[in-house]
Amino acid sequence: MERDNFFGKDIISLNDFSRQDIDYILDVAQKIKDNPGEFKFSMKNKIMAPLFFENSTRTSTSFQMAMLHMGGNVMDFDVETSSLKKGETLRDTLMMIKGYQPDVVVLRHSLGGAVQLASDVLDCPVINAGDGQNQHPTQTMLDLFTINEIRGDIDGVKIAMVGDLKYGRTTHSLALALSKYNNCKIYFISPESLMMPKDVLKELQEKGIDFYENSLSDFQDILKLVDIVYMTRIQRERFSVGIEGEQEYQKIKNDYCLTRKMLKNVSPNLKIMHPLPKVFEIESEIDYTPYAYYFKQAENGLYIRKALLNLILKNNE
Ligand code: CP
Repeated sequence: MERDNFFGKDIISLNDFSRQDIDYILDVAQKIKDNPGEFKFSMKNKIMAPLFFENSTRTSTSFQMAMLHMGGNVMDFDVETSSLKKGETLRDTLMMIKGYQPDVVVLRHSLGGAVQLASDVLDCPVINAGDGQNQHPTQTMLDLFTINEIRGDIDGVKIAMVGDLKYGRTTHSLALALSKYNNCKIYFISPESLMMPKDVLKELQEKGIDFYENSLSDFQDILKLVDIVYMTRIQRERFSVGIEGEQEYQKIKNDYCLTRKMLKNVSPNLKIMHPLPKVFEIESEIDYTPYAYYFKQAENGLYIRKALLNLILKNNE
């Protein structure tokens, strides 16, 4: 895709982007990372409306910082003090926002169709900041950027995705995105009740990517086969409310944790990624080892989001 082709576009799903599109975005993000002054005032007079109906630290702050670094403005919106608490619908809220004329809306919601609804209602571009169990496309772009940074290439990566693969939208998006690249190999490792959904596996099969489903007992051995281990958190908030949900969560929670000891015989080049937040699934002392790459990964979110805002809000002037 040429630069012009991004102008005014929504970012809803990774499926809307070809490998060439993604590579183009990663190149722009790399330029921004290498030249901190790049696009310094490019968002002057632009207003971003961040609508976060679910909690966020990284996605929300990196989008805000991206806009502020580039001289743009950010609307203040707090779901806790909004009229949603009085029962106003999402559609009505979006109708109001439309009237207030932001240049871009960044939306996170627990429902899969919420971002599409926003795109249908609003006149400005909408960026999906995570919609339920569905997609988190800007996270996937920063994950691909990070894999490329670690290895110098995305083609041929051997990656283990570990943890809550059922509810973890970042692993769904990343696995499908990797199927656009060549010779990648994915090892899925999860508790039995949190395996990768069948529809995602079917799509991966159709796209011809090499993948293996493994149990937690294979975790240690697989660490020796891969370049990258992509850990994920058990998504407590997606289990049922009440005692049954809590019991199921506690049982699974104790089942896996990546420890320093498990890294004894792995390649010195192994890197650990995690979309964050992490809770108990990585022993905290791993943070201080050269294996830990998750904080650099989170920083890369700033460059990807700056690149996307520029591509969709600025024409070729
Ligand atoms: N990785 C990610 O989406 O983090 P937040 O939930 O903090 O935005």
